[in-house]
Amino acid sequence: MKPKILRKGDDFIHCEVAYVKDITTRLLDSLLCGGIKTAYFRFPPLKKFPQDGLPFADVDARYALKLGFTARPGGIRRLGKISGRPKLHLAIPATPDEMADNYIRTDREYFLKHFAKLLPENEKGYSRRVVKKGFANSDVVLLLLDGKTVGMACLNQPRERYGEMCRLLAWDCISPKLTKAQRLDAHYQLSGWLMKLCADVALTAHVDAFNVRSQKFHFKLGMRPDALAARVR
Ligand SMILES: CC(C)(COP(=O)(O)OP(=O)(O)OC[C@H]1O[C@@H](n2cnc3c(N)ncnc32)[C@H](O)[C@@H]1OP(=O)(O)O)[C@@H](O)C(=O)NCCC(=O)NCCS
Repeated sequence: MKPKILRKGDDFIHCEVAYVKDITTRLLDSLLCGGIKTAYFRFPPLKKFPQDGLPFADVDARYALKLGFTARPGGIRRLGKISGRPKLHLAIPATPDEMADNYIRTDREYFLKHFAKLLPENEKGYSRRVVKKGFANSDVVLLLLDGKTVGMACLNQPRERYGEMCRLLAWDCISPKLTKAQRLDAHYQLSGWLMKLCADVALTAHVDAFNVRSQKFHFKLGMRPDALAARVR
């Protein structure tokens, strides 16, 4: 099916498609040309999620794909559980430097180490200055285990998006080294924090198509895939 064009700028195009499967290499070849560098797609939120996520394995590797996941206001679900005494606790970074140190370390250790080769050049890590500026007004929380950061989340302030107020979950991570009980605790605490801050506002996150574990986690949280950004690498 042909996409419905919603808006076109000098270097981007916004479209609507009826089905995710309509987004093919052929469609991207036809849209991402003549100076158009990014194509944004919206589609009806997926209620059922494929077992293997949405890696867009059939789309040519020339294109970098990011899925948009959105939860309705109050739509974040409580995950995980705490058995016995909590193993982890939440803390707000004391200073912008502490926030930036934690962001840069968790980005490197939990994400870039595995995925840098799949990312466009401009997404392979950010300087301390950029991180401090980017998250200056964000709500940031650290997940601590014995005083060490083993997880983190950064939530931008609400902004108008498609006619409703929405927050962007700009970063969230949980250490791959946690035990099962610690992970359930981390899920419980992070989902609780998000539920509280997004009780009356929508929540969105951008997840790389190759990051299937993250896709599954955000779906589990109550967020539904409803958008895709495609860029020429
Ligand atoms: C994304 C992240 C926060 C998810 O938290 P998590 O504790 O790892 O989440 P889970 O262990 O529940 O994993 C989610 C699902 O993916 C599954 N999974 C685990 N490894 C997987 C893999 N390599 N490929 C696909 N699925 C995988 C899990 O079994 C789980 O499935 P289930 O819900 O059916 O049990 C965490 O993995 C992380 O920090 N990743 C690195 C940083 C990152 O990518 N952040 C998000 C940026 S958008």
